[in-house]
Formats: sequence, structure tokens, C-alpha cells
Amino acid sequence: MTAQPTLTIDRLIGELKTLAAISEDEPPVVTRVVFSEADLRARTYVKKLCTDAGLSVTEDAIGNTFARWHGSEPDLPPIATGSHIDAIPNAGLYDGCVGVLGGLEAIRVLQQLGFRPRRSIELVIFTSEEPTRFGIGCLGSRMMANVLTPTQARALRDKEGRSLDELRSSGGFTGPLESVVLPKGRFHQFVELHIEQGPLLEQEKIDVGLVTHIAAPASMRVVIEGEGGHAGGKMMPGRKDALAAAAELILAVESAAKSTGAMDTVGTVGVCDVFPGAVNSIPSRVRLETDIRDIDGARRDRVLASLQQKCDEVARLRCVTITTELVNADPPAACDPAILETLEDSARAAGKTCKKMVSRAYHDSLFMARIAPVAMLFIPCRGGVSHRPDEYASPEWIGSGVHVLARTLTALSS
Ligand code: GLV
Ligand code: MN
Ligand code: MN
Repeated sequence: MTAQPTLTIDRLIGELKTLAAISEDEPPVVTRVVFSEADLRARTYVKKLCTDAGLSVTEDAIGNTFARWHGSEPDLPPIATGSHIDAIPNAGLYDGCVGVLGGLEAIRVLQQLGFRPRRSIELVIFTSEEPTRFGIGCLGSRMMANVLTPTQARALRDKEGRSLDELRSSGGFTGPLESVVLPKGRFHQFVELHIEQGPLLEQEKIDVGLVTHIAAPASMRVVIEGEGGHAGGKMMPGRKDALAAAAELILAVESAAKSTGAMDTVGTVGVCDVFPGAVNSIPSRVRLETDIRDIDGARRDRVLASLQQKCDEVARLRCVTITTELVNADPPAACDPAILETLEDSARAAGKTCKKMVSRAYHDSLFMARIAPVAMLFIPCRGGVSHRPDEYASPEWIGSGVHVLARTLTALSS
């Protein structure tokens, strides 16, 4: 590659901050749940930036967005980059957005340098990488890869009972869900820039991480039905307190994840809905959403199996009814060695230090890997903090990531 990218980092940081201000919560808290008013406004903002950069923007039936810089051989499958702009409740401003706006910045820098790609370069903004609304992560890329089929997608409901069809059409996204599915070969290669969401790069003072594998995520929904009643009037013997049963299961998730002895096994219960939720009423129903992950899929499945066993045991001993639903249990993904080599060459050419690492978080790359060769590029984030308002990546870190990405896109698209 001959182009020497020079970055306009202030422009990018300004855009990240503008995007962060489009939130359902007061700054610095970013909350942008898919198809919320904030999500729709954020999409409008990002699409305008893309059209301002001369990219051709199209959207599919669920709002996955494709912004294309046409190459000199436009019939060749494009090189794609991108990430997501939806944000979980109480999030920060870098998760996903660095990959979207950083990808756009990489394209703009290459345009300014007069680079002309042979293959088109396409920025992809995936719908609902976060599982907040529908309980399942990577909705957009999962559907592109047909891992979640149109029939399964039609059955999705949010907490208020609204369907994907209802919500997407209120956002202006119509057309058959079948058209979201993409064939292998639609993209030549895909590279995703993302913050690490872990502490290693910062601790080791390394500029960029080259992701070789993405861990296998799973989610199990657990509903416990007990017996409600008056918190004063009903004696302790014979109670069927659904929340007390849930407490045992929450601790079981923690100890099952710890019991593997591997740092790569993690287990979390992030949702606990208690009904009726009154201080003087015995909980009659509780819904837990559990998140269990491991880089080793079989070991992750053993943790899931032990949770199921614990559910059966608690149901028996506490005389409550426990139903479980496996929402997803995806295999891990491996990144493509050839793209990793290009990333490494690009990092060296840019004078950046790098190391190979795994991603314990999931990303749209997990599903893009089903339809194209993929790789991921990580930048540090302060203290490894993510999914919190104090998530932070310095302009220098972001600049390094965009620089390496720009060089990589140059090499891949030439
Ligand atoms: C993505 O946000 C994840 O939870 O890994
Ligand atoms: Mn996230
Ligand atoms: Mn993310």
C-alpha cells in the first residue's frame, strides 16, 4: 500500500460525542435500545454522515444499514467493516460506535488521500447487536447469516409483548424478513474495529489487539413460579417464594462458572424481574436472564447443563415450578489468518504495537464469520471498563485503531 493515512481525530471524537448525546438518558449515560426514538435518531445522524462522505446508503428489512464506497470494479464482492450503534441501558459511548464512526473515518481519510479502492468498501451498521429488547444478541448479523431464521424472528417479542414486525415497521423498516438473509460471498472479507472491553491492552501498553477467536455466548431464560401472598400474614413454613428460589439459582450460575477453574468461563444473571414487586408481598413469579460464555464451547455447555440440573433440584426442594428456555447457545468463531496477517502488517507499517488475543465479548463478527472471512481489531479501553457510562478510550487509542483499519482496508480492497 502506498497511501499514508492522516487522521482527523478531532472530527471523529466530536462525532462520537454527538452520537452519545442521542440517548434515552441524560449524559453521560448512553441508552439506545433498538427501534427506540433515540436509536432512530442516531441512525439518521450516522446515515447523514455517510451520505455526506459520498457513500451510497441502503437498508434492509430490519434496518441493517450498508454504506458503500464504490470501487473501480463495483461488481466484485466488497470489503466490509462496521459494528453497531445500539447501546444497552446505562452504557457508555464507545462500544460499537468506535467501529462504525471509526470505520467511516477510515474511509474518509482514504478518500482524502486520493485512494481509489478496486473492491468497494462497505460500512455496515448492524441492527440490535445488544440483546436488550428481544433478549437475543446480534439480531442483525444473526439474521443475515440465517442463524435466526425469519420464522424464529417473527416469534420475537419484547417485554411489552411487541413483535419484531411491529417495531421494525414503526421504525420504517418493511419488506420480507427473508430478504435480510445474505449468501456466502456477499462480502469478500469483513473487519470489525471495537474496544477491547477487557483490561489487557491497557495493562500491557499495547496499541491494538488482533482477535483470533470470539468466545461462545449462551443465554438461558429461567421462569420460577411460586406462590404469592401477604408478607406479614403468611408464616415461613410452607412458603413457595419464587425470589428465594431465584437467589439459589443466581448463586448457582456464579459458582458453576467459577468451578471450571478457567478464566475464560464467565456467568452472569443480568435480569431479575420480580412479580408483583411489592415490599409486602411474597414474590410469586421471577424471570431470570442468564448469560454464560466460554471460549471453549463444550465447557460452556457443561455449565449450562449444571444450571439446568440445579433448576430441577431447586424446583423439587422448594415446591416451585421452574421452566427454562435456551435462548441461544452459539459456537465460538475463529478469525481468518489471512486478514489477521494483513492487520498485523498494517499495525507494523503504522508503527503500532500489537498482540493476538481472544474476544470474551461477542460481536457481529461472530455471525459474519458464517458468511465471510472475518477478523477483529481491538483498541484498549480504560480499566477494561465497558457497558458502563464511564467507559473510555483515549483519542490516541482510537486514532491508532482507525489508522490500522485504514491501512488494512487499503490492502484488502486493492
Ligand atoms: C456484547 O455487547 C456482549 O455482551 O458481549
Ligand atoms: Mn455491548
Ligand atoms: Mn459492541
